Amino acid sequence: MAETSSPMEVDAAAPPPTALGKLNKGKAPVSDGKSAPWVEKYRPQSLADVAAHRDIVDTIDRLTSENRLPHLLLYGPPGTGKTSTILAVARKLYGSQYQNMILELNASDDRGIDVVRQQIQDFASARSLSFGARPSVKLVLLDEADAMTKDAQFALRRVIEKHTKSTRFALICNNVNKIIPALQSRCTRFRFAPLDAAHVRERLQHVIQSEGLDVDDSGLTSLVRLSNGDMRKALNILQSTHMASQHIDEEAVYLCTGNPMPKDIEQITYWLLNETFSDGFRYISDIKVRKGLALVDIIREVTMFVFKIEMPSDVRVKLINDLADIEYVCCFHLIMVLLLPVFVHRLCCKISALMIY
Ligand SMILES: Nc1ncnc2c1ncn2[C@@H]1O[C@H](COP(=O)(O)OP(=O)(O)OP(=O)(O)O)[C@@H](O)[C@H]1O
Ligand SMILES: [Mg+2]
Repeated sequence: MAETSSPMEVDAAAPPPTALGKLNKGKAPVSDGKSAPWVEKYRPQSLADVAAHRDIVDTIDRLTSENRLPHLLLYGPPGTGKTSTILAVARKLYGSQYQNMILELNASDDRGIDVVRQQIQDFASARSLSFGARPSVKLVLLDEADAMTKDAQFALRRVIEKHTKSTRFALICNNVNKIIPALQSRCTRFRFAPLDAAHVRERLQHVIQSEGLDVDDSGLTSLVRLSNGDMRKALNILQSTHMASQHIDEEAVYLCTGNPMPKDIEQITYWLLNETFSDGFRYISDIKVRKGLALVDIIREVTMFVFKIEMPSDVRVKLINDLADIEYVCCFHLIMVLLLPVFVHRLCCKISALMIY
């Protein structure tokens, strides 16, 4: 992959690196100050720190060590370690040269066809220096690549092929279907699944220990449950709960996130299944107001709870179906409420236009 024969190598003569300034984007280790968001403070610095995805990380680690890194396409849901993994790879590859050897572009940058033609092209064809055994191959990191325009993706096909000798491309995205097949086939794909509960728990325990927090088992279990395999979400909830209360238990976590507590959901489901319509409606309206719960959250949680209750499967299917209908109506109602001002505005514009004529 890399041309590393002489102590200091210069690859093909080309314009000076113009795009090297756009780097890091705050992803370097954040100072340990108390105000630092824990998602950044505890961002894995090396591949060994990345929790879960052992197969993927070991494969990438091996390819990096052997200087055989292919173009990469990392995809999967948010907060699963895609960006952290690739940044750890870059750190391992370049060490102190890190800042000069990678070009990082994410969704906050304009990434239309012009950027591919100019910025990426300039960076890829720029001279790169390598010292000793350090590889001279550079890295273009396209985070949130699913937000790139189709034209830009088509232009990138050629750029990738043209600069394969000196540059590796790492594309990261949530939705792989938005990456054109031609780009997908140029990259080695790795899917980052949501982290399983054991790994989220382990990583949270590490943070809890480092920060010296007072978290009991029910609190930890709630954090793991609410994160749904998203490590970023888990750390954010942990940090905000810690700001709200010194002792972190189940109640503190649910209060902080505004999610209905499991025992409230159990109670609501009991009312739904056993009380008359008018009593059930009254009790649920009451708890909604008293605890400030959102109806859509209640429905979502009740749906999950229905799976835990023993009942004939045809009854379960009917319940799930009806709950899905209610959720749909709630969301549709919300959309209508949000769009109503737009419709009214448009209608007024049309009426005033007609009146002018
Ligand atoms: N596998 C993991 N191991 C350890 N920490 C993780 C892992 N995944 C996520 N995190 C934590 O969550 C934060 C966000 O992770 P990262 O930016 O890598 O997610 P991502 O997969 O790129 O998400 P997105 O798709 O939203 O960009 C990290 O700073 C880190 O603290
Ligand atoms: Mg990311």
